[in-house]
Amino acid sequence: MIIVTGANGKLGRAVVEQLLDRVPAEQIGVSVRDPNQAQELQGRGVRVRRGDFDDAESLHRAFEGASQVLIVSAGIMGEAGIPHGIRQHQAAIDAAKQAGASQVLYTSHMGSSPTSPFAPMIHHAATEELLQASGMAFTSLRNGYYAASVLMLIG
Ligand SMILES: NC(=O)c1ccc[n+]([C@@H]2O[C@H](COP(=O)([O-])OP(=O)(O)OC[C@H]3O[C@@H](n4cnc5c(N)ncnc54)[C@H](OP(=O)(O)O)[C@@H]3O)[C@@H](O)[C@H]2O)c1
Repeated sequence: MIIVTGANGKLGRAVVEQLLDRVPAEQIGVSVRDPNQAQELQGRGVRVRRGDFDDAESLHRAFEGASQVLIVSAGIMGEAGIPHGIRQHQAAIDAAKQAGASQVLYTSHMGSSPTSPFAPMIHHAATEELLQASGMAFTSLRNGYYAASVLMLIG
């Protein structure tokens, strides 16, 4: 089963829509903080379970039976948020490993670096190190800047 986190968010939901065009719905599971917001997916045959990066138990249940997991990064606010953000991603990586996933995909960012002056890049770099240490096969998707963010910044 392919598990997608953040499937109530913009990127995660778009990924699930693309997956539904390619694989049977029963092979897709979403790990979301609010299952009510994913009822429409459930109605289409997608497995919906609550999964919160701050609640390891919920992740173990949401990732059950995973063959591949897409971890959509949780954003952080400034440098102060980095330690918490790293703990959150560690919990997701641990849950993927415990579930027996053979591959993890992670939404990183181009410019991911421990020495970046931009806090999210330090968070991404730290997560990539955790993935490396996990021993699982992983793909770090070093995405460029989302156009949607530009609209947000413009106001
Ligand atoms: N490359 C870029 O330019 C760029 C720009 C913006 C963001 N990003 C990164 O890409 C990610 C996805 O972007 P997006 O536009 O899809 O953002 P989004 O719509 O805000 O989606 C983020 C998702 O992360 C989930 N999430 C947050 N905290 C979580 C937690 N504790 N446990 C589990 N899930 C949690 C949210 O869950 P809920 O639905 O329950 O809130 C949401 O579904 C962002 O989170 C951020 O890390 C990249």
